[in-house]
Amino acid sequence: MENKELLELAIEAASNSYCSYSGFSVGAALLTEDGRIFTGCNVENSSFSLTICAERTAIFKAVSEGCRKFKAIAIVGGAEGNYSHPCCPCGACLQVMSEFCDDDFSIILTNGEFTLGEFLPMRFELN
Ligand code: THU
Repeated sequence: MENKELLELAIEAASNSYCSYSGFSVGAALLTEDGRIFTGCNVENSSFSLTICAERTAIFKAVSEGCRKFKAIAIVGGAEGNYSHPCCPCGACLQVMSEFCDDDFSIILTNGEFTLGEFLPMRFELN
């Protein structure tokens, strides 16, 4: 799976974004080690703190379907369908990624490919 294809799936997922409050649509496409893809979008709520990010939607969908081994995630985000500016994952999503992924997990943005280790060099772990 090419990075470009995964980014296209993230853009498609962003079209389902429920972002009535921010107007900022986010889409994510998560590639599992066995080649499956789970997508997600942000889902906002009038009680703002209940909003869930696109990345966590995709990860929770995968885990709830029995998948816990991931290779890469592509993320896009923007207002009015403009996804050209890179959309970095937030700290909460990085922590959720770090529950299931190693430092070499790929984070694919519109400006290139990065790793979880680069975004979160020191993780919280319960040990
Ligand atoms: N958002 C995501 O979906 N992923 C992130 O990593 C950061 C932010 C969403 C949450 C909210 O619906 C909107 O972007 C604006 O913060």
